[in-house]
Amino acid sequence: MPHLLHLDASVDPRTSSSRPVTAAFAEAWRGLGADHTVTHRDLQADPPPHLPDAALHWAPALRTPAETGAEVDDVVQRELLAELLAADVVLVGAPMYNWSLPSTLKAWVDHVHVLGTTVPFGELTDQPLAGRTAVVVSSRGAGYAPGSPTAGMDHTVPPLALVLSQSFGMTVEVVTLELTLAGRVPAMADLQATATAQREAAVARVQELARTLG
Ligand SMILES: Cc1cc2nc3c(=O)[nH]c(=O)nc-3n(C[C@H](O)[C@H](O)[C@H](O)COP(=O)(O)O)c2cc1C
Repeated sequence: MPHLLHLDASVDPRTSSSRPVTAAFAEAWRGLGADHTVTHRDLQADPPPHLPDAALHWAPALRTPAETGAEVDDVVQRELLAELLAADVVLVGAPMYNWSLPSTLKAWVDHVHVLGTTVPFGELTDQPLAGRTAVVVSSRGAGYAPGSPTAGMDHTVPPLALVLSQSFGMTVEVVTLELTLAGRVPAMADLQATATAQREAAVARVQELARTLG
């Protein structure tokens, strides 16, 4: 039963650019058959708390005696890990906020990037997500295309891709929509056609990915 974990992190309830694209992926996934199931976690509507204790960065077997002896609240972490590990494909709506990840998505990452559990460490060599695919849909108001003066300013996709690929061993597909503020910022008015074309291309790309991965 192919299962999708669909995460959204946009804080924009009215005109989000990333949500329609992740929704298009999820709709295409469901369209592949009733056995193609989806768990949708809206990190904006139901934000995970900040990681409550540094001990949660480590698998229980790797914790220090002081950490093991302390009462550690891992209820949220266990829920998020179970949800992630149950997914064959992970879809992440990752808007750029202040050149980086939405804080809700970063809190999710802090809960699920666990040495010795999802990330191999020392003798705990398991990498349970290895070989699975993550699709990152990243929307940004301005442009950060390779070769442009702002190319190095994207700190949204690179850290997320590091966690998903290097730490988790997943294959990462990145779909970007840029210039999403073209309809709002007068100085970007002449970029609206490009932004629209990128949005349409992003939807087509995620629909294709859903069919391929499902
Ligand atoms: C809090 C906040 C910070 C933002 N920071 C940036 C930024 O650093 N660079 C940028 O290009 N756009 C920035 N934007 C614009 C968003 O990246 C853009 O609106 C994008 O479409 C967000 O995805 P969403 O529409 O799905 O929320 C910011 C928007 C918000 C709300």
